[in-house]
Amino acid sequence: MNDLDGKHIVLGLTGGIACYKAAELCRSLIKAGATVQVVMTEAAAQFITPVTMQALSNRPVYGSQWDDREPNNMAHINLSREADAILIAPCSADFMAKLLHGRADDLLSLMCLARPIESVPLLVAPAMNREMWAHPATQRNLAQLTADGATVLGVGSGFQACGETGDGRMLEPEELLHDVIAFFQPKLLAGRRVLVTAGPTYEAIDPVRGITNLSSGKMGFAIARAAQEAGAQVTLVAGPVSLPTPRGVTRMDVRSAQDMLQAVQAQVQLSDIFVATAAVADWRPANPADQKIKKDGSGNTPGLSFVENPDILAGVAQSARARNGELFCVGFAAESQDLQANAQAKRERKGVPLLVGNIGPATFGQDDNALLLVDAQGVTDIPRASKLELARKLIAEIATRTRAKGQK
Ligand code: CTP
Repeated sequence: MNDLDGKHIVLGLTGGIACYKAAELCRSLIKAGATVQVVMTEAAAQFITPVTMQALSNRPVYGSQWDDREPNNMAHINLSREADAILIAPCSADFMAKLLHGRADDLLSLMCLARPIESVPLLVAPAMNREMWAHPATQRNLAQLTADGATVLGVGSGFQACGETGDGRMLEPEELLHDVIAFFQPKLLAGRRVLVTAGPTYEAIDPVRGITNLSSGKMGFAIARAAQEAGAQVTLVAGPVSLPTPRGVTRMDVRSAQDMLQAVQAQVQLSDIFVATAAVADWRPANPADQKIKKDGSGNTPGLSFVENPDILAGVAQSARARNGELFCVGFAAESQDLQANAQAKRERKGVPLLVGNIGPATFGQDDNALLLVDAQGVTDIPRASKLELARKLIAEIATRTRAKGQK
């Protein structure tokens, strides 16, 4: 199952050097399962050829409103009626101005005006020089376009083809792909604030050694992504992992269980939902050494002693906001056997309304998994799938349960 299976996207290109990125974007959309119909303005064809875009999209490219390949000679009607969305990438400053005035003197603008506004959303990825982007006219146009119902996907920042540095670059193809995929996800957590912990913790023995575990953080990162796609404002407190931050998610990197506790305590007051996926170390060395512990040649091993780490989830679940229903807590349990019984017992011990069980050795580092949801009503299986698919299903379950508990 691909993220864009069954989606038909009209990809509109307007004049700008970022057209070179549209080639990669077209490929990415197709790899994600979409079919893509390219429509180009005359100016776009100065930057990249229709031949390139035809080869990549495997469909003839449209450029003129007088194209007589369509039996009724109405390409603007036919192409827009088939689309699940129109994505203008790159969208020039000039084309934005045209869109908001309802101008229709070329096929692409004509098609945007003629689209059924309720069923064919318009997404735009602006691309221009930083001065053009900052100009009040562009900013005014952008605000009006948004007010008219278009989704403006934002711009990147950095070195520009003109040699200047600043805001206005078109987002990278993988960022646009993510935004398009996210756009189609149901907004089940719109306006909610979600806090997620993920990954292992690292407990220092000395400055160069420590104790950690095999958690990859992938499930927590997938949950953060799925919550963001569902419209939530997401903060991700991550132990030491090298995974990329999901787009649109605020990340706080921590190392030890105590660091994680501090970060969670700072954020949890501002959250509606707390999902604890981190594999927090249960114990830490009682007296970490300031300097590297050396072998002394005697054959003796260092006598390590341990203290128990705070239970972050159980502590949060005891807080007043969790107890009066303003904060919904979700725990995870990585077990090696008797999943259902262990997960049920752990749910009660931690005092959380929902606990998600999985078999630790079968999930650590893997890209897929299977989950068992345990709540007061009983158990629900989420069968084996990719961690992102599981995360989206879990978010839907959380949305249902928080609505039932009366959260807005
Ligand atoms: N957790 C936590 N802080 C800890 C330990 C665990 O917040 N110090 C959270 C985990 O993020 C997870 C849940 O508690 O959501 C269960 O973690 P797990 O390691 O499976 O449980 P433990 O409490 O360590 O229980 P046990 O070792 O007995 O299986």
